[in-house]
Amino acid sequence: MKKLGFVLGILVLLACTHPLVARVRVIRPGNVWLDSSGQQIQAHGGGVIRWHGRYYWFGEDRTRTNDPEKRYVACYFSKDLVRWNSCGQVFVLSDPEHLGKNWVLERPKVFPNRRTGKFVLYFHLDDAKYQFARVGVAVSNRIDGPYTYVHSFRPLGQESRDIGQFIDDDGSAYLIFEARPTRGFFIGRLSDDYLEVSEKMSFIHAPLEGGALVHDKGIYYVVGSHMTGWAPNSNVYATSNTLIGPWTEFKDVAPPEAKTYGAQSTMLLKVEGTKQTTVIFMADIWKPKTLWDSRYLWMPVEIEDGKLHLPAPQPWSINLKTGVTKLK
Ligand code: DGJ
Repeated sequence: MKKLGFVLGILVLLACTHPLVARVRVIRPGNVWLDSSGQQIQAHGGGVIRWHGRYYWFGEDRTRTNDPEKRYVACYFSKDLVRWNSCGQVFVLSDPEHLGKNWVLERPKVFPNRRTGKFVLYFHLDDAKYQFARVGVAVSNRIDGPYTYVHSFRPLGQESRDIGQFIDDDGSAYLIFEARPTRGFFIGRLSDDYLEVSEKMSFIHAPLEGGALVHDKGIYYVVGSHMTGWAPNSNVYATSNTLIGPWTEFKDVAPPEAKTYGAQSTMLLKVEGTKQTTVIFMADIWKPKTLWDSRYLWMPVEIEDGKLHLPAPQPWSINLKTGVTKLK
């Protein structure tokens, strides 16, 4: 009897782990997203990069028990974009420019530099009134940190608040940043060592933040949100055949009354599979009073011939080999 139980147990285990019957992993936009140790994922305003067969997700760590004097960037890694393992708080910073109470570190993004072998972390660094308006830069020899603060600056001499990250198909790295005085987005190419923003590609005259970019089938799509603080609004997109522009007018990514389903853009992630290329709209559903409990809205967008549409959020899965997504 005991033996039979053992054999049945083994059979159940084999069945559950067999690729054909293994449980399909599902992304549930807006739900609490737990890491592999059961903790709520802290990667707000974040970015995802692929590195040696793994995805890495970096973002603001707003854990309630964090030291209120410090700011934290967390990192997670995954092979399937669904189950995330924590690599911990990879960057812990104490007010590096004496910005005072409630200083700000937001929207961290990591750029791996193949020339130098370093990993370069960019973030929005500010005081409580958002007047400092600079980027901060930190580096590490390892993707999973620890990162060390290097400097802060105004890219291309401009005020910079929300930042977005873009790595083109040829590997070139760009920062998208919002400059309020000129009311628009700059797209700037990073210097060879990634420690500076060295060249202006575009200035897009549109007062937007939460900038993100993707290059799909020869067309660049830039996405941004209107400036309504933590409150959601209808995010918009424009397109161009080159990073230099000209850019089209901005259009809503979804019905404007949906206000991007309560979310604000942070990144457009391209997954190239054998059957299709999928672009994932990654956004934050902010909860300003309990930022640690802010949620994530990740959805594959419908994208074709210069049109981009964000469907209403619902659970979905992706086959990373083929790139094919399925709504659940
Ligand atoms: C909107 C920005 O996109 C966020 O990153 C954050 O700075 C909030 N504003 C603060 O109100």
